[in-house]
Amino acid sequence: MGPDGDIDLTGDQRRLGLVALYSRTSDVPRGRSGKGERPIASRQVLATAAGTTAPHPFPYQGSKRRIAKFILPYFPVGLDRLVEPFCGSAAVSISAAATGLARRFWLNDLDGPLMALWEEIVERPEPLVASYANLWRDQQSDKKTFFFSVRRDFNTFRRPEHLLYLLARIVKGSVRYSADGVFNQSADNRRAGIRPSALRRQILGVHQLLAGRTTLSAKDFRQVALECKPQDLVYMDPPYQGTSQRHDRRYCGGVGYEELVDVLHTMNDMGASYIVSYDGRTGGKTHGRLLPRSLELRHLYVNAGRSTQATLLGNERETVESLYLSPALLRRLDSPIQRTESTCLGAQQALFE
Ligand SMILES: C[S@@+](CC[C@H](N)C(=O)[O-])C[C@H]1O[C@@H](n2cnc3c(N)ncnc32)[C@H](O)[C@@H]1O
Repeated sequence: MGPDGDIDLTGDQRRLGLVALYSRTSDVPRGRSGKGERPIASRQVLATAAGTTAPHPFPYQGSKRRIAKFILPYFPVGLDRLVEPFCGSAAVSISAAATGLARRFWLNDLDGPLMALWEEIVERPEPLVASYANLWRDQQSDKKTFFFSVRRDFNTFRRPEHLLYLLARIVKGSVRYSADGVFNQSADNRRAGIRPSALRRQILGVHQLLAGRTTLSAKDFRQVALECKPQDLVYMDPPYQGTSQRHDRRYCGGVGYEELVDVLHTMNDMGASYIVSYDGRTGGKTHGRLLPRSLELRHLYVNAGRSTQATLLGNERETVESLYLSPALLRRLDSPIQRTESTCLGAQQALFE
């Protein structure tokens, strides 16, 4: 421990760009139930990871870009493969790649056209960015009409460059399909979408981080979860519970609460190391159900800042997101090597259960 109670960071943590802000053990809250329970965050550190400046491929609602820095410190040391069954824009994998915390990646999302876009990013980024540049230029005379024509083309041909253009233009990066799979989100006509030169930098940056070491698939998360190995780390970010029923139109798929819990029980039986982001709280209001105690997960909250929705409503309240760590992961984090090399934790243990 350094002067003023700051943690002395290890070489690994400095490489990550982690910054210890405060660390007195007495600052760390314990769970109510936790008599004799040793909190995982025996020293609390607010982490600013180099991952904050990691490239990102496209705007995506629910992206974990802002809070990836609070998730990375829970990675086991020397991780070979990170698996994201609900990858979306893959913010956590990209941050992990940017900070050297995992060697290989498996990105999966049930949204097939999204994964086709990922394939272009990982395998053929230059033609993709060139096609985007053409679309972006062609829209200039009438952005509004052009958006509808690209959306129509996407609904007919499912071309990755069309999806990239739509993602750059839609409201809040919120992908929305009708019940019969028609992409029906509207454009934010105040914005033209990211400039081609800026997009090129981002996409090539992501490509450099992931090419040659990333597997892609478009399966239901259950299949992916069951194919994982005990030495993997699985980061799961299912749709918010409010949007998680199969009939929901905002996502092509969805995940029911019971179904998720069932899969997590199976993963526990398999000895899988996983982290789940699952809803949280805004101000005093809890969103969705907590995951059950029977799963024996460690429940933490991370501060996700002000939600877009709350800001629109003129509401200053902060959103905190739930993060759950699996028993097998906790055992790995408790190993002597993890204790000495990566005790840097950026979240707060849940107080409210
Ligand atoms: C909250 S978003 C993930 C965001 C991601 N963490 C990021 O950083 O961008 C949830 C994702 O789950 C996907 N999804 C929904 N149901 C699914 C299912 N049954 N299996 C796999 N993916 C699913 C959606 O298409 C969506 O991309």
